[in-house]
Amino acid sequence: MNRILVLNGPNLNLLGTREPQIYGYTTMDDVIEDLQSRFSGIEIEYFQSNCEGEIIDKLHAVGFDSQCIGVALNAGAYTHTSLAIADAIAAIKTPVVELHISNVHARESIRHTSLISPVCRGVIAGFGVDSYRLAIEAILNF
Ligand code: DQA
Repeated sequence: MNRILVLNGPNLNLLGTREPQIYGYTTMDDVIEDLQSRFSGIEIEYFQSNCEGEIIDKLHAVGFDSQCIGVALNAGAYTHTSLAIADAIAAIKTPVVELHISNVHARESIRHTSLISPVCRGVIAGFGVDSYRLAIEAILNF
């Protein structure tokens, strides 16, 4: 069965309790359960890490696997800082969609810059946890 990887970066393990006024009260377990029931014809794989190197290793692991048809990536704060993650996305074959729960462009100016946007297929931001569903819809329409 084809797979889509939902890949989360730092602090997103705390979704549901972390700054709920910005990120809401829904947990990542709830998000993945909802995605798997909506998209039953595809396997939704989930991985989260607070470590930059582990995110890169995961991108390398799926990036040449033809059964993995896309990555929905919320790189968290690494979005704004990590040339290494940008290089990993550029190096792999699997398309990556950048996503954010919050509208990063309506927040502090440091969040307006993304080092990964130029190497991603597209960007989705500001729709709460529905950004994950929208990223998967985009991958399914490639
Ligand atoms: C985020 C936005 C980032 O600026 C922030 O560092 C996060 C979450 C979002 O989903 O809105 O950790 O990627």
